[in-house]
Amino acid sequence: AGAFALAGVLGYVFGSIPFGLILARMGGAGDLRAIGSGNIGATNVLRTGRKGLAAGTLLLDLAKGAAAVCLARALWPGSEGLAALGAVIGHCFPVWLQFRGGKGVATLMGVSMALAWPIGLVYAVVWLGMLYATRISSVGGMSAAVASPIAALVFGHPRYAAVLAPLALLVVWLHRANIARLLAGTEPRVGKGR
Ligand code: G3P
Repeated sequence: AGAFALAGVLGYVFGSIPFGLILARMGGAGDLRAIGSGNIGATNVLRTGRKGLAAGTLLLDLAKGAAAVCLARALWPGSEGLAALGAVIGHCFPVWLQFRGGKGVATLMGVSMALAWPIGLVYAVVWLGMLYATRISSVGGMSAAVASPIAALVFGHPRYAAVLAPLALLVVWLHRANIARLLAGTEPRVGKGR
């Protein structure tokens, strides 16, 4: 049980590193929390006009989730679900930022990929597909998050589904301001024609 608690803590520590905030600041793009939606994720880094920093944020927020799961699996086999839980919670509620973190889309993709690659593949396809179809980041992210526990069940990983389902609900809950903007028709689109 101790090892499993450690996996959760390891996940949390990895997940709580706010790469978007760090990259934007180091890249001279200012404090992300004062820009656009105020979110610390890749979408909001993109609003600074710095595509490279946004891509870096997406990759690092994804990688920290995947790394936490892989490390936990290597150290304490069977604990990877708890590491996944910790990583997404760490990203969304980092102690370093008064628990005001991101919305979990990239980190949930990273843990999905590392838990079982077919789940990650479905996540990526749904995310890119919905993003391409709607040009709205929040729609892509929420759709992919909801797809992940379903994919876990379909591919025969009920224990991963049990972790991914509450995380998908968390991601949707953290998008409640986006949902209000979607309903009001004011949610911005990414890329051209915004
Ligand atoms: O990952 C967050 C994304 O889904 C929405 O970000 O900045 O548009 O609220 P934002």
